[in-house]
Amino acid sequence: MREGEHLMDETRQGEATVVAGPGAGGRKLYLESYGCQMNFSDSEIVASILADAGYQTTRDADDADLVLLNTCAIRDNAEQRVRNRLVHFKTNKQKNPSLVVGVLGCMAERLRDQLLEEEQLVDLVVGPDAYRDLPNLVDQVEGGQKAVNVLLSREETYAEISPVRLDSSGVTAFISIMRGCDNMCSFCVVPFTRGRERSRDPHSIVQEARTLFDQGYREVTLLGQNVDSYKWNIDNKGVVKEEGQPVVRFAELLDMVAQVNPDLRVRFSTSHPKDMTDDVLHAMARHENICKYIHLPVQSGHSEVLKRMNRGYTREWYLERIAAIRRIMPGCAISTDIITGFCGETQEEHEATLSLMDEVGYDMAFMFKYSERPKTLAERKFEDDVPEEVKGSRLQEVIARQMIHGKARTEALVGQVHRVLIEGTSKKRDDQFFGRTTHNTVAVFLKGDHKPGEYVNVHVTSCTAVTLLGEVTNQPADT
Ligand code: SAH
Ligand code: SF4
Ligand code: F3S
Repeated sequence: MREGEHLMDETRQGEATVVAGPGAGGRKLYLESYGCQMNFSDSEIVASILADAGYQTTRDADDADLVLLNTCAIRDNAEQRVRNRLVHFKTNKQKNPSLVVGVLGCMAERLRDQLLEEEQLVDLVVGPDAYRDLPNLVDQVEGGQKAVNVLLSREETYAEISPVRLDSSGVTAFISIMRGCDNMCSFCVVPFTRGRERSRDPHSIVQEARTLFDQGYREVTLLGQNVDSYKWNIDNKGVVKEEGQPVVRFAELLDMVAQVNPDLRVRFSTSHPKDMTDDVLHAMARHENICKYIHLPVQSGHSEVLKRMNRGYTREWYLERIAAIRRIMPGCAISTDIITGFCGETQEEHEATLSLMDEVGYDMAFMFKYSERPKTLAERKFEDDVPEEVKGSRLQEVIARQMIHGKARTEALVGQVHRVLIEGTSKKRDDQFFGRTTHNTVAVFLKGDHKPGEYVNVHVTSCTAVTLLGEVTNQPADT
């Protein structure tokens, strides 16, 4: 397995997706997204803003008047992939000089001068808080100028914009509930690329969930870099902003969204171990439609490394949070993110990560080699001193360990009956559907006369390392 590859499915960061959706006609937009779910969700906002300005999305870059890459800066290899694509589009531009090429998202802030001036790779650079300005900026480019807006905002949440659902199955959708991040983990570029944390009006979130349900969607994923610090009508110090108005924290928001309809599943990502409270776990336990799955990135199993990473918790604190999850929701699935070879990581510290993995037994993990990012605390304070081969061999050990745990967790489900939301036709077999259990495990089974968007109970008869194979049954579900 290569760096950044993970052991489950393709729903999270790293993959580029070409998107297509409805538009108002006229000019054609080709949009490619990289990075995390938040970026994919942002692309739906961009498509909506540009649809209002008369752009229709296309899947064929050669057919487009406007090519936009929504970029990720999380690791160096993410940036390199985007650069290669930009070089490719530069040659397209030589063939079609009226083509406008732009960079959106997390590379915009960092690389605007380089991309625009030095390398002349693009005409347009727009940061994550400036998408409302896109129609003006595109006009500016069409008038013969380069255009830039990378201003970060303390307020922008795009709350009232109805995203154009791109590449959608019509069953599952993302809802962005907050933007930015105030955490300053020392390895991480996100606070620099996306700015300060701000939460979106809860009523617009609930309204979006309701609209999706009415349109036939059956699952929403609430997105934020640190959903546990979601807060509305209260500041960071706990002071209520508007007296008489309700305060909404993440646990209350979960309650509100779960009540939209018992048939609307609710997922969320990402939880932060330092902020995940028992309130949130109790809210999950209270509502059957909140999926019993938590992504709780640990990054390292050693408290000293966690301190250098500025994560705000120790190994013991993290394991106590895991114990709380198991206490309040026995059987809840847990996944994580792990970085190998962070600055100064010793063999002993690396082994602590392996032993933590053994203690937790993750269902799934996203595993990465440390990649130094400009401007971050780690870049300024520590030396990136773990040799590349050591980072790589440690990553391989972490991946190998996860394969054992993931497989064991999947195998434990064989023989059980799980409630599965059907998402679509299986990639491997036309006569089979795939869907997910509450634990986010993919299950495949014969279609029968079912349809995507329906719930079925699936009796699991066997499995591969990450996928359940089964048959639809009338028996009651275990989960
Ligand atoms: N907000 C989320 C994660 C955002 S980035 C959280 O706090 O957990 C997703 C993952 O990318 C991180 O969890 C981390 O494991 C990884 N990552 C971030 N910066 C990285 C870097 N510089 N090198 C390697 N991996 C990194
Ligand atoms: Fe980055 Fe940490 Fe914020 Fe996650 S919580 S986005 S890792 S700074
Ligand atoms: Fe990448 Fe930006 Fe997301 S850096 S992981 S796209 S927040």
